[in-house]
Amino acid sequence: MLALDLPEPSREEKQHSAELVASIKKEIDQSAGWINFAEYMQLALYSPGLGYYAAGKQKFGEAGDFITAPELSPLFAQTLAQSVSHILASMDQPSVIEFGAGSGILACGLLKELERLGQLPNQYLIIELSAELKQRQQQQIEQHVPHLLERVKWLDYLPEQGLNAVVIANEVLDAMPVRRFVKQDGIICDLCVSQEAGQLKLVTTEATEDLLYAVNSIESDIGRTFDEAYQSEVNLNIGPWLTSIYNMLDRGVVLMIDYGYPRTEYYLPERSMGTSMCYYRHRTLDNPLWYPGLQDITAFVDFSAVGDYAQTAGFELYGYTSQANFLLDSGLPRIVEAQFSEDNRQQLELTQQVKILTLPTEMGERFKVMGLTKNFHSHVPGFGLRNFISSL
Ligand SMILES: C[S@@+](CC[C@H](N)C(=O)[O-])C[C@H]1O[C@@H](n2cnc3c(N)ncnc32)[C@H](O)[C@@H]1O
Repeated sequence: MLALDLPEPSREEKQHSAELVASIKKEIDQSAGWINFAEYMQLALYSPGLGYYAAGKQKFGEAGDFITAPELSPLFAQTLAQSVSHILASMDQPSVIEFGAGSGILACGLLKELERLGQLPNQYLIIELSAELKQRQQQQIEQHVPHLLERVKWLDYLPEQGLNAVVIANEVLDAMPVRRFVKQDGIICDLCVSQEAGQLKLVTTEATEDLLYAVNSIESDIGRTFDEAYQSEVNLNIGPWLTSIYNMLDRGVVLMIDYGYPRTEYYLPERSMGTSMCYYRHRTLDNPLWYPGLQDITAFVDFSAVGDYAQTAGFELYGYTSQANFLLDSGLPRIVEAQFSEDNRQQLELTQQVKILTLPTEMGERFKVMGLTKNFHSHVPGFGLRNFISSL
């Protein structure tokens, strides 16, 4: 269903999407007549020059399609920096590695605050899939912390091994391509993308072994089989991603912040259409085939799966909590207090930002933070108030 007040894309936007659709159709033709949903999502979001994240469209902030926590308020980066700085202090030659740095605003905020705290990392590495976003990130850093630019490097591949680092991924897991499945006539099927009469369309095909294995494991974990017509997603990319991060680290902490649930909540019977969502100009859409390239396509994160994959990779699961708990335990109240001013308007803005970051009805509960460690046995601030590992 489309939002009623959905703005009509411009002619240029439609033209851009048509080019991407043509290249997706070519991929479909070259495959068996369909591509799985993860392949579709990869093309729709990351096709060089055309995909949603790879083209020049304004995505973040009020003029874009959605707002992330670091875009919403500098308090997010400032608070996260308290936890990061504490971790960096107990590492030799430490690095910060940020995945999917978006507009670069979190990198700037973290670098500024880490400098103020006297805890700058030796290097700040950014791993970003989108060439266009890399350019934006560079401009953002040049503009806001030019004297720290030489510490920032953009990598196309993870370094082989041996780093002591804090790894940060804010809203990256939800932007990774997911596979979709649906139960049909009692059988788990792969929800794929095909074309008919020139239009992209969702079709079901026989599930591949890896998808079937993943869905069967979920059913056995949650203790029930899915009902007829139940649809949802699984992210099969997280395991290899975490393994490559584990292999790169000598000592480290990984902090992943994203919207998601433990498995039992993710696959609730009433969530029978899955968690996948699309965003266009701050409207939520549920049709991933609507103008590919113009809308963001996302899925919630199954944090139980992330925890399992992490431990299989070798990580220790340090903590899992809500964004609100993480920020409060990392020192948000102290940071806000230090910024109190006599200016009523400024004060109101600050209060509003705190509310959006922490209230359960806003980002506070929907967003979770998971912390993983490798050879790191010191304290990681953020998980002290409530640690919900046992809910995973
Ligand atoms: C929703 S945006 C979040 C941006 C930013 N972290 C923020 O909070 O504003 C998702 C980002 O993740 C990037 N991304 C997705 N998968 C990635 C991966 N496997 N490695 C690195 N970046 C990735 C996208 O290109 C994009 O920059």
